[in-house]
Amino acid sequence: MSGTLRVANGSPAAAATRPSHGRLLLRDAEPGDRRPAGVLLREALTPQLADAVFGLGSPGASRYLERLFQRPGTLWSYDITTLAELDGEVVGLVSHAPWAVLAERRRSTLWGYWRAYGLRGLLKLIPRIRALMRASPAVPPDHWFIPCLAVAPEHRGNGVAHALLQTVYRHAEAHAPACSLYVPTSNGTAREFYDRAGYVERGGADSELLHRLAGVSGRVRFERTLTAGRST
Ligand SMILES: CC(C)(COP(=O)(O)OP(=O)(O)OC[C@H]1O[C@@H](n2cnc3c(N)ncnc32)[C@H](O)[C@@H]1OP(=O)(O)O)[C@@H](O)C(=O)NCCC(=O)NCCS
Repeated sequence: MSGTLRVANGSPAAAATRPSHGRLLLRDAEPGDRRPAGVLLREALTPQLADAVFGLGSPGASRYLERLFQRPGTLWSYDITTLAELDGEVVGLVSHAPWAVLAERRRSTLWGYWRAYGLRGLLKLIPRIRALMRASPAVPPDHWFIPCLAVAPEHRGNGVAHALLQTVYRHAEAHAPACSLYVPTSNGTAREFYDRAGYVERGGADSELLHRLAGVSGRVRFERTLTAGRST
């Protein structure tokens, strides 16, 4: 599949109303959404891990993630991302695509890193990315994958993440037997959230370097079986 594939949303029915929280609209992301997206991508990775890896050790991961987001064809791009908007404000984000498509995007992602970080930044980034990859357990090649899911802290607990996940399932069910994602071992809230959302933990991987850089020893893979009509 091409690097500019849109798999994120596209469903005109992808909207939900929560009486006490205004109108929640789910829509495809655009390059112009880079500011809120950069902040949410940092949240999705967890700020600690994002800053250690993508902020090159400083609390500035969002501005790099913004730059990666606004170019198509990478693991971070707007073209695999659905946003949740509440009364016009971006409050949540999910990126998702077939694992095989994400694997095809690795080379263009490296180019994206080059453009976002420049040569000196890239030389600092590469060992950090390697540490992150070492802490990323294998994903079955036929799975759908969710690289990032985050909701703005002040909007959590209102069903925004569940609404975003329903969009993912609507796309994924016809194409994949299951959905996978990574969670940092230390992110207890997210692990509980996925557990309650029907995901099963399928093993983890660790990196000593990641632990030294980010205080996070590794990541676990969660998966959820997809059966058309069952993901409600
Ligand atoms: C994990 C995370 C995405 C959850 O987002 P969220 O929007 O708070 O999640 P939801 O509100 O959909 O679900 C949380 C709970 O609120 C409840 N809830 C409250 N109001 C609700 C409503 N109006 N409709 C539906 N559910 C509601 C849900 O029942 C749910 O409980 P459950 O898990 O027992 O079903 C969010 O905490 C987050 O962004 N964390 C930081 C980033 C992160 O860790 N990402 C995951 C790793 S990639």
